[in-house]
Amino acid sequence: MIADQPTLLTPITIGNWTIDPPLTLAPMAGQTNHPFRVLCREMGGCGLVCTELFSSHAMQFKGNHHRTMAMIDWTPEEAPCAVQLFGANPQHMAEAAKIVVDYGANLVDINMGCWVPKVTKGGGGAALLKDLCTAVEVVHAVVNAVQVPVTVKVRAGFENGVITAVQFAKRAEEVGAKAIAVHARFAEQGFTGKADWDIIRQVKAVVKSIPVIGNGDVTNADDAIRMFEQTGCDGVMIGRAALGNPWIFRQIEHQIRTGTPLPTPTIQERAQTCLRHAQLTLQTTKLRERSALLELRGQLIKYLSNMPDSTTIRHQIVHCESLQDIENALAPVL
Ligand SMILES: Cc1cc2nc3c(=O)[nH]c(=O)nc-3n(C[C@H](O)[C@H](O)[C@H](O)COP(=O)(O)O)c2cc1C
Repeated sequence: MIADQPTLLTPITIGNWTIDPPLTLAPMAGQTNHPFRVLCREMGGCGLVCTELFSSHAMQFKGNHHRTMAMIDWTPEEAPCAVQLFGANPQHMAEAAKIVVDYGANLVDINMGCWVPKVTKGGGGAALLKDLCTAVEVVHAVVNAVQVPVTVKVRAGFENGVITAVQFAKRAEEVGAKAIAVHARFAEQGFTGKADWDIIRQVKAVVKSIPVIGNGDVTNADDAIRMFEQTGCDGVMIGRAALGNPWIFRQIEHQIRTGTPLPTPTIQERAQTCLRHAQLTLQTTKLRERSALLELRGQLIKYLSNMPDSTTIRHQIVHCESLQDIENALAPVL
């Protein structure tokens, strides 16, 4: 059945970048940092990665903002890598875009999906979907500020049942956005309910010349195939299902290209990748070691889900204080 559908993985063009295959890593705060993005690219099948979100406001005060500066962690080996910004002030967003491009961002992505009050209270994130004029001004300002392609990641809309992504996507294309990713839930839903993929289809139907990337609830190759088929989207973005599972992109790519699933990684492979994730983090982080370890613990635990008899390992990882602790914890399964 799949062999009859070779077009599902047609590479997409976002400005000057070719995304091949068109399977992308969703931006996830506290998760999609440099080590994780590198792993996703190394494993294969992931055509584009994205950083965690950055506050355009905090960027203006970069000299004083250790955490923001520590998050400027992308490197050429990840390319293409989009850097995600949030904010509702077009001027601040434009300035922040210039800063991240000066630091080597390959693309700039504008966050119009985040629903947490910390982001929406200033009018940014998904709150922009309640004010399409400002949303379009933000896109326009960022497009005019930088030479790299600008993309936007939206929710279906802000209020439950009120779809604004469709109207917005059309306007964003007109002012120069080079791709739109649609997380097919309303902001008010948070992560509850099911993503309504029909909204991705509706966005695809109005956008003329730029790729539409579908997002929401893709957990395996079968889901990705269904999303491509049901919505006509040009690419598929994966978030939660990639955590502790950076193999997912190559699994999807393999299954679409060959029609057969790849074997799931062995326990040993999972443990080795978990360790590599820890090594990469502790070798490259610009965070203070303590902060890096706290974030890392949460990331490493994800590799252990469904690993039989992993209670002890889990306990040790949750309390690890060093790379040596992590090595010791994983030793029985390496
Ligand atoms: C821990 C976590 C952090 C997230 N952070 C961001 C973010 O910084 N920017 C953003 O646009 N979306 C963020 N999201 C949303 C994801 O990018 C994605 O849209 C959502 O998880 C739905 O996709 P999925 O079903 O494949 O996980 C986050 C999601 C999670 C689970």
